[in-house]
Amino acid sequence: PLVTTGELVTRAAGTRSAVAAFNIITLEHVEAVVTGAESLGSPVVLQVSENAVKFRHGRLLPLARAAVTAAEQAAVPVALHLDHVQSDDLLRQAADAGFSSVMYDAARLPYAENLAATRAAADRAHAQGLWIEAELGRIGGKDGKPPLDAHAPGARTDPDEARAFVADSGVDALAVAVGSSHAMTTRTATLDHPLLERLSGTLDVPLVLHGSSGVPDDELAAAAAAGIAKINVGTALNIAMTGAIREFLAARPEVVDPRRYLSVGREAMVRAVAGVITALGSGSVT
Ligand code: G3H
Ligand code: ZN
Repeated sequence: PLVTTGELVTRAAGTRSAVAAFNIITLEHVEAVVTGAESLGSPVVLQVSENAVKFRHGRLLPLARAAVTAAEQAAVPVALHLDHVQSDDLLRQAADAGFSSVMYDAARLPYAENLAATRAAADRAHAQGLWIEAELGRIGGKDGKPPLDAHAPGARTDPDEARAFVADSGVDALAVAVGSSHAMTTRTATLDHPLLERLSGTLDVPLVLHGSSGVPDDELAAAAAAGIAKINVGTALNIAMTGAIREFLAARPEVVDPRRYLSVGREAMVRAVAGVITALGSGSVT
């Protein structure tokens, strides 16, 4: 069934576990995430990034409607989240398209501008009944840019600044920069556990980990235990899908039916989804 992101994250936070949120690009991603979550009896979040909407010719509804339908028909609770939103127009479309939550991304801006933009977005989101996540600090690796130097000023989330940011913006959850970086193709990120402990001790909203594809399984489990309640994974599915298809087509150059290779790619994504959920230990909590 279709449920809200807020209820999944709140439930996860209450048990010091994390719900996995996967970025979807194609219908195969949607099917793979739902199948992988069903195989473990686990709730899951399907998330659509603003970049994925751009890829879909700027249209949100075709993929959103597919995801809503898949969620409604799923055997496990599935929520829909709009990810890394910068456009006000997209934010306006979220609730009508079936999303219960958005991540508003103004983290590229200096603190005061990030706060002002996020506060305005939070007001608009709450007026539509949406749960809203924002980012403070610079997680890095977005838009194909190289990961930031983790020690650069402002790269990591500062606990005192984060407390003020959450109180002044009114957001429901905070994405924190604690050592992960977007679009990593190796699982070599090391999380700053002392910082994570300080952040979760200082803040009274659930924390979100972005760029989780680059984080090893044991680090994901430790992050969940330390107060991360939502774990965002995108690249890992694309590595699985593309790798499997590349290998399949190399061995069978005569294949032309997309169903042959898309099913191979989808199966590989199902395994990747199940791997993340198993690492989090959040299976069978429906
Ligand atoms: O918001 C999406 C995530 O942060 C995904 O990051 O593609 O590096 O796993 P990733
Ligand atoms: Zn992200």
